[in-house]
Amino acid sequence: MIPISLGTYLENFFSDKKERLSELYPGLTINRLKDELTQYARQKKINVDDLFSSRYIPSHTNPITNYFNSLVKGYPLEYIRGRAHFYKSEFDVSENVLIPRSETEILVETASSFLRDWMKMSDERLRILDIGTGSGAIIISLLQEMPRPLEAFATDISKDALEVARRNYFNLRYTIPRESSLRLICTDRMNDLDQEKFHLIVSNPPYIKKREDRDFVHHQVDNYEPHLALYLEDDSYDEWFRTLFKQVLNSLYEEGIFIMEGHEDHLEDLCEVCNMIGFSTVKILKDYTNRNRFLVAKK
Ligand SMILES: C[S@@+](CC[C@H](N)C(=O)[O-])C[C@H]1O[C@@H](n2cnc3c(N)ncnc32)[C@H](O)[C@@H]1O
Repeated sequence: MIPISLGTYLENFFSDKKERLSELYPGLTINRLKDELTQYARQKKINVDDLFSSRYIPSHTNPITNYFNSLVKGYPLEYIRGRAHFYKSEFDVSENVLIPRSETEILVETASSFLRDWMKMSDERLRILDIGTGSGAIIISLLQEMPRPLEAFATDISKDALEVARRNYFNLRYTIPRESSLRLICTDRMNDLDQEKFHLIVSNPPYIKKREDRDFVHHQVDNYEPHLALYLEDDSYDEWFRTLFKQVLNSLYEEGIFIMEGHEDHLEDLCEVCNMIGFSTVKILKDYTNRNRFLVAKK
């Protein structure tokens, strides 16, 4: 075998597997792949100064070979590196947490705007909650974004997910006002929090119906992301949300706000549920592709 550089190997790999790669990783360019590979090599303590011009010998002990093998299997890029960009930071991720999605940034922006408005009107220390926090991307971004300290809480039913959130909170602690706090609680939705009151509650819960919607889920998502983060049973779907909304309504201060990401096909029905259980106003927000994606309800 003639020795070749990693740069040449990568170009050959990219052109040989073009179709498969574009099916598995829509929009992936060779430059993005180079960038990912450089960051991955840096994390593996490989010198990246002449990474692409140095000789590459595939071997099962070479982390770069593992990288290419993971790509061929369609393993999500974020899980390969264990990192994902969200809002203004990079977060640790593992197979125990959903890879945070860019559309969820709309939820962070909407929540930030409510918090800023309240901060202009009052010096009160605001209390916020994130239900189903996963990597902690939403709640940590909100803590980072606010000019004043917040008292924050986040729940998840998965202990393993909360470990990832805890790590992210620790890694990003210097980007958060020092007097802010975050309590991470392992519980179902908001159980164990019935004594607490909040100004704002946010959530990106599992919202895909396991039977009705599953065929529309990209197979890479279905194969690798935690089903606990994605799916709910069709038969108990509405009841699952009714319980959640009642808990939320009980725990909001008067005029408190609830913002939730949801499925475009089910959000209108869920708005009805919110109206029926007593929220004073409920509306739907769209994402950048004009699809119904967020519910905003006021107590
Ligand atoms: C769609 S993911 C969202 C993760 C993260 N908030 C984000 O936006 O990237 C849903 C999260 O809810 C958690 N979850 C699922 N069922 C739950 C329940 N009954 N109570 C609390 N959390 C739950 C999952 O473990 C997962 O972390």
